[in-house]
Amino acid sequence: MAELTRMSVSIDSDLLAEFDRAIAQEGLPSRSEAVTRLVREFLISRNWQMDTEVAGTITLLYDHHSQRLTQEVMGIQHDFTDVVIATQHVHLNHSDCLEIITVRGKAGRLRELYRNLCAVKGLVHHALTMTSSACRESEPHDHHHCE
Ligand code: NI
Repeated sequence: MAELTRMSVSIDSDLLAEFDRAIAQEGLPSRSEAVTRLVREFLISRNWQMDTEVAGTITLLYDHHSQRLTQEVMGIQHDFTDVVIATQHVHLNHSDCLEIITVRGKAGRLRELYRNLCAVKGLVHHALTMTSSACRESEPHDHHHCE
């Protein structure tokens, strides 16, 4: 992480008081950390709007008794192997399957995958979590994860 910079901001005092109350209610560690997270959230959502490299998860809830639905969900993922990193499938109960698909790539491509999955008839619930810029630099990593 880069070094910390102290900044001074002019803000409406009522707004700041409300913000501080909300921070306390949410149990956030400090005002600095709350502001840092808001700034990061802004940058992440901006990256997702532009077609840059991002990462996130797609959550699907569906009934596995529909073989057609199960096969469609799997078939779509096979068409997006360029952005699907991993899929976790949990058998929640007798009928419900919870599937968490971890994705990384260009935001537009990830949205296309999400749209395709959302279009599957019979899904119980679906959600997209936009969580990060996958790589902060566009160059490939110069370190190795496994050695
Ligand atoms: Ni299942």
